[in-house]
Amino acid sequence: MSDATPLPGEPVALAHASRLINHGPTVLVATAHGGRRNVMAAAWSMPVEFTPPRVAVVIDKSTYTRELAAAAGAFALGIPGRALADLTFTVGSCSGREGDKFARYGIEAVPGPVLGQPLLAGCVAWLECRLIPEPHTEAAYDTCFAEVLWAAADPRVFRDGRWSFRDDNTELHTLHHLGAGAFAWPGQAIQANRLTG
Ligand SMILES: Cc1cc2nc3c(=O)[nH]c(=O)nc-3n(C[C@H](O)[C@H](O)[C@H](O)COP(=O)(O)O)c2cc1C
Repeated sequence: MSDATPLPGEPVALAHASRLINHGPTVLVATAHGGRRNVMAAAWSMPVEFTPPRVAVVIDKSTYTRELAAAAGAFALGIPGRALADLTFTVGSCSGREGDKFARYGIEAVPGPVLGQPLLAGCVAWLECRLIPEPHTEAAYDTCFAEVLWAAADPRVFRDGRWSFRDDNTELHTLHHLGAGAFAWPGQAIQANRLTG
């Protein structure tokens, strides 16, 4: 990771950050602390507060990611597009305790601008998040709550606060986990209109 490397994507206003995960994409939870780094897949994340924007992510207590995120007090979410399906499944199927997944799978990242957490190359959106200390919740549950401090997205697929999933950008469509490495992606979108009455 190098400070000289430009940040990925274009900034997303924090007021729109919840829209990045509103539709339930699988995310990559990336963490770095004290010279250690890691990344895992998480299908379970959601926005939980508007202002400031807060998210909940289920990070199993037994994972290396959870250990590092707790030590860092932070993590970054990367939202992978279809092109990263194999990588997403892979980093969700092995532990960083067995070796550095970044080196093993050629994952590149730059430090986030606020917390220095890894922003993964090749994703279509990124959120830098600070863990909200919740001693009871942390002890009892796998769910972690965090405040989003910075967000960005690839303007080819997220612009003006909205996702734009089209036939000409399918490699950038987000992944929705069906189980056991099978994913669906949002191939078709419709604009609903309010009914009159
Ligand atoms: C597509 C996918 C989605 C997953 N979603 C979650 C999740 O929401 N929460 C979770 O704790 N683990 C989830 N996992 C499992 C973790 O990614 C897995 O335990 C990982 O190996 C942990 O790595 P670590 O020990 O390096 O942190 C998922 C795995 C895959 C493949």
